[in-house]
Amino acid sequence: MKYDVKLCEIVRRAVIAEDTYDYTVSAPELAVVAEPGQFAHIYVPGKTLRRPISICDIDKAAGTLRFVFQVRGAGTADLAKFEVGDHFDILAPLGHGFSVEPDKKALFVGGGIGVPPLLGAAKHYGENATVAIGFRNKDYVILEEDFKAAGCDTRVATDDGSYGHHGLVIDLIRDVKPDIICACGPMVMLRAVANFAKENGIRCEISLEERMACGIGACLGCAVELNGEEGTYMGHVCKDGPVFAAERVVL
Ligand SMILES: Cc1cc2nc3c(=O)[nH]c(=O)nc-3n(C[C@H](O)[C@H](O)[C@H](O)COP(=O)(O)OP(=O)(O)OC[C@H]3O[C@@H](n4cnc5c(N)ncnc54)[C@H](O)[C@@H]3O)c2cc1C
Ligand code: FES
Repeated sequence: MKYDVKLCEIVRRAVIAEDTYDYTVSAPELAVVAEPGQFAHIYVPGKTLRRPISICDIDKAAGTLRFVFQVRGAGTADLAKFEVGDHFDILAPLGHGFSVEPDKKALFVGGGIGVPPLLGAAKHYGENATVAIGFRNKDYVILEEDFKAAGCDTRVATDDGSYGHHGLVIDLIRDVKPDIICACGPMVMLRAVANFAKENGIRCEISLEERMACGIGACLGCAVELNGEEGTYMGHVCKDGPVFAAERVVL
């Protein structure tokens, strides 16, 4: 197992959208082994359970990891109070990430706070990637400029039409003919993307979110129903995922 616990100094902090925080931490030992789509379990002082947050980006040369999260409850609210110079206590890198085959054409589809785990993988594809990301409204749009800076054809949708395409992110992908699709976001979006991939014979990987405790496959806390050769069985999002081949998951 390549994961480890490290105290990582926060070297950059920004508020990038409504309730949404962007942290870069110095973590040379973790950055060297981390892969796009994996996640970290971050300790919140005073709380028993760590909080799972995706690795948004990895800079192996600088030895840093980037995390983008939204405040959802007490744990993420406490994490959002950390300042530059403070340290995150991080267990990482955990789980399986996205396949990265930069010579192929990739389509990345993200919804809301499901967008951050896509950035690291999309950067490997650059101009070979189309990125379709959807948000509630313009106040929640994140990482558009990061995808564009990486050279990706970047398309944005909002539910209320206050920015980009007025409608669903799935509306933005019908003309794209990729070799692989990588998606993360609400289950309804993942189902639509998986169906689109199946109808068009495109390989598809989806990143799932489930409530977690241990984060390393030891507590059975993050069960997910998977398709096996002899019917379905229960797997773990933390250990078997969070990224799965779409056809493996009972959606
Ligand atoms: C693999 C993975 C990657 C994630 N990546 C990101 C990310 O990059 N950015 C981001 O903003 N959020 C991400 N999340 C969701 C994030 O973990 C939750 O929003 C966070 O744990 C909520 O904690 P809280 O204390 O603020 O909320 P509370 O609701 O008070 O949390 C109570 C408990 O429930 C758990 N919990 C609550 N909601 C979730 C959830 N949606 N998923 C998992 N556990 C939950 C908490 O960890 C905690 O143990 C990810 C979740 C998973 C499983
Ligand atoms: S969180 Fe414990 S098994 Fe997945």
